[in-house]
Amino acid sequence: MQSPLVAGWSCTVCGASVDIAVPLSWRCPRAGDDRHHVLQLVQGAAVLQSAGDANPFLGFRQYLAWDGFAAAAGLTDAARAAVVSELEAHVAAVEGRGFVTTPFARADALSDALGFAPGGGVWVKDETHNVGGSHKARHLFTILLHLRTAEIAGLAPWSAGGGSSASDRPPLAIASCGNAAIAAGTLAAAVGWPIRVFVPSSADLHVTKRLAELGATVVECPRLPTDPPGDPCVHRFREAVAAGAVPFSVQGTENAWCLDGGRTIGWEMVTQAQQQSVALDRVFVQVGGGAFAACVTAGLAMGGSLPRLHAVQTQACAPLARAWERSQALGGPQQAGGHWADCMWPWEHVGESAADGILDDETYDWLPVLAAMATTGGSPVVVAEADVLASNEVGCRATGIDASATGTAGLAGLLAIRGEVGAHERVAVVFSGVRR
Ligand SMILES: Cc1ncc(COP(=O)(O)O)c(C=O)c1O
Ligand SMILES: [Zn+2]
Repeated sequence: MQSPLVAGWSCTVCGASVDIAVPLSWRCPRAGDDRHHVLQLVQGAAVLQSAGDANPFLGFRQYLAWDGFAAAAGLTDAARAAVVSELEAHVAAVEGRGFVTTPFARADALSDALGFAPGGGVWVKDETHNVGGSHKARHLFTILLHLRTAEIAGLAPWSAGGGSSASDRPPLAIASCGNAAIAAGTLAAAVGWPIRVFVPSSADLHVTKRLAELGATVVECPRLPTDPPGDPCVHRFREAVAAGAVPFSVQGTENAWCLDGGRTIGWEMVTQAQQQSVALDRVFVQVGGGAFAACVTAGLAMGGSLPRLHAVQTQACAPLARAWERSQALGGPQQAGGHWADCMWPWEHVGESAADGILDDETYDWLPVLAAMATTGGSPVVVAEADVLASNEVGCRATGIDASATGTAGLAGLLAIRGEVGAHERVAVVFSGVRR
């Protein structure tokens, strides 16, 4: 086992750096109340190779920032592996399954239906049987690993001395009423950690029922007369964090540690593509808050060459495509960190879409996604609702995967620009969440 690879974090916007050894390093130290800062990992070059374990958090452990944090906290290699295994056993006890490498293969019937040649086609990564029914738990698991490690090493304020009981722990907090909330509730239940989930009054009853079954405290957040503009769930979430709760969020601007574990999906794809001797030409990734696309891309990039990235949004809400356009006149997508307010702001009138998981009015983790599209010769794709619906219909029918419209929305991007994609190209998409 090599020594840990990650040196720490640096803020893409202000350049502040944070050593990997710093516990609970969720946000840029200079950010304050300003959300226009975001930490990115500072990591040495490495040749990606799985240690062979089917659990990606064990197979790719040495590439995780968390592994570097745990090593700096004094945990031996064996102790670090044991932390993953301990949490994994708890997750499996609640969920009936733990983290395992999810399937990634050429979807033959889908490739035929879309007119690809035998050498080209569509490769589908199937996250629908992942913990919590989507990719979201991958992001949150590295926050949980970090918390547990801080406890074990006596670095968490509530556990000085190494002990911890549920009553000493600050609650976890998340503003979500979809897959992220279910993933957060599942992981919190696994370790018996109290969690508060801030949801809108319009939240889906199936989701709130499941959260209650998992023992989460569901907090309905109507807009208060005193509220500033913006989502009241986010206001309540931030108040809870200001009062001591842990941001258990899948937005890098609220907790950068979510950007660590999310990369396992890209690392799996790299390894699986190599096993199949396939070099991918393009990847279409659905974008809401942007952490998912940022992590798929960061993971794929460690495979050596990154396929052309297309970030997919719907016409109902497309702040990332707007930011891409705006950045062209402001020094280009690679320099956009210095122009946050001029490029990225909340979409004024969010419409409706069956792909409701990607209707975030702001793409919080937009900077790495813009940079990856620029370096790979990719582009944003904004799809019509007809493509969202058609991709879900053909995607599920041709693969037998029961994905939601959000889960298949990357494929909608391929449908929308199919005419520009050669029949011999190899295209990857992620069916990121199950139909509920
Ligand atoms: C199934 C699924 N796929 C993709 C996304 C988009 O991820 P992100 O918000 O990180 O862009 C979401 C977000 O809710 C989701 O639930
Ligand atoms: Zn900063």
